[in-house]
Parts: sequence; C-alpha cells; structure tokens
Amino acid sequence: MSDSQLWDDVDSYFSTLLSPEDDALQAALRDSDAEGLPHINVAPNQGKLLQLLARIQGARTVLEIGTLGGYSTIWLARALPEDGRLVTLEFDAHHADVARRNLARAGLERITEVRVGPALESLPKLADENPPPFDLVFIDADKANNAHYVEWALKLTSAGSLIVVDNVVREGGVVDPDSADPSVRGTRAALQLIAEHPRLEGTAVQTVGSKGHDGFALARVLG
Ligand code: SAH
Ligand code: DHB
Ligand code: MG
Repeated sequence: MSDSQLWDDVDSYFSTLLSPEDDALQAALRDSDAEGLPHINVAPNQGKLLQLLARIQGARTVLEIGTLGGYSTIWLARALPEDGRLVTLEFDAHHADVARRNLARAGLERITEVRVGPALESLPKLADENPPPFDLVFIDADKANNAHYVEWALKLTSAGSLIVVDNVVREGGVVDPDSADPSVRGTRAALQLIAEHPRLEGTAVQTVGSKGHDGFALARVLG
C-alpha cells in the first residue's frame, strides 16, 4: 500500500468515527464541486479540530481569511453561540456566492458574514468598524500574504485569542530560506513573526492525511 493510500484510509477511519459529516457539510462539498471550486477545503477531521479549538477558546467571534465554499466556515460557525459572529473574507465573488448558499443551508446565515474582496482591503475596513476582538482567527487564503494576515490578526484580537495558519509545509519548501516561491516566503515570514513577536507564542505541526503532507501553525495572543 502506498503511503498516501494509508494516510487516506486512516483519515477515513478517524473522520467516519469522530467527525462524520452531516447533510449540510456533505451538500456544501457537493455544491462546491458542482460549481467548479477546487478541492482545497480542510478535511473533516481538520474541520472538527478547528471546531474543537473554537469551543476550547469559548469563542464568540471568529475571523476566517479564505472562505472558498464555506466548508471550514461551517465547522467553525457551529462552535459559536446563537449570538456569536463569524466574518469570513473571500477574494472570489463566485466562491463567496457558493459559500453563502452553503452557510444558509446549514442554518448559519444569521451568525456568518461573507465579505468579498482582497483580504488586505477587507481587513482595514473591518478594523475601522472597531469590532469586538476575535477569539479565533483562521488564516487560509493566499499564502504569500500570510505574515500580513498574522499582523492583521494581532490588531483584531486580544489576549487569549488563537491564530491558526493552514498549509504551512508547502511540500517541504518551508525549510528553504532562499525559496523564490511567494507562498513559501509568506509562510516563512508568518512563522518568523510568530517566533519573534513579543505578543505571540506559537508552534507548528506537520500532518499527513487525505490532504497529503501538510501542517498548521498555532499562535496564542498574549496581553
Ligand atoms: N478555508 C477553506 C479553504 C480556503 S481555500 C476551507 O478549508 O474550506 C483559499 C481561498 O482563499 C480561495 O477561495 C481563494 O479564492 C481565497 N483567496 C485567495 N486570495 C485571497 C485574497 N487575497 N483575499 C481573500 N481571499 C483570497
Ligand atoms: C491550497 C490552498 C489551501 O488552503 C489548502 O488547504 C490546500 C491547497 C492551494 O492553493 O493549492
Ligand atoms: Mg488551507
């Protein structure tokens, strides 16, 4: 058996047992696929991890950067109380439309808001509204801007907030300090910021599974 078949089988076992998808999650992926969106959503067990992290945080507010069809958004929003709020930022208007439909079908229309545009334009607008600090920020958009997104996350959170950055392995490219790949450079800059910033403590973890070899970084915001 190939490594990747084994990772798939183990992910399937974990997800079927511990993070089964209900109709709304399955429909979100089915419609995303029918609408031609790429298959780059988090896996079910990763979605459940995000949901657990939000619950452990006691999160009332979540900010997501990179919506796609709203699959990770559904996992995260389900961790929130009825009066919670999730803002998710998406560059592509078609992705945002698909996501809004998927969120509505999941009954999450009231507490979620999909904002269309380049996140680096949406973030200053959001900050101008002086929202209450976000308890969790999930960064999963264009990797070249990862460090900028961590900086914005710092502005939009407070002590105790959690920042999660997806896809930090870049097929191993993340170890190359001379990489010309903007995604690698952006991800290394984000990790460097987490390492050095006096208001962040963090780590990064590699994963294998149905999404191949990848990983995420976690950072807690200090006072
Ligand atoms: N979080 C989703 C996957 C997001 S994929 C999930 O796990 O289900 C990354 C998304 O980020 C894509 O939809 C892409 O259109 C969007 N994106 C890319 N560049 C962006 C930018 N500059 N601002 C906002 N969104 C961006
Ligand atoms: C890609 C983006 C993601 O957010 C992800 O989880 C996997 C792949 C991509 O752009 O290829
Ligand atoms: Mg991702």
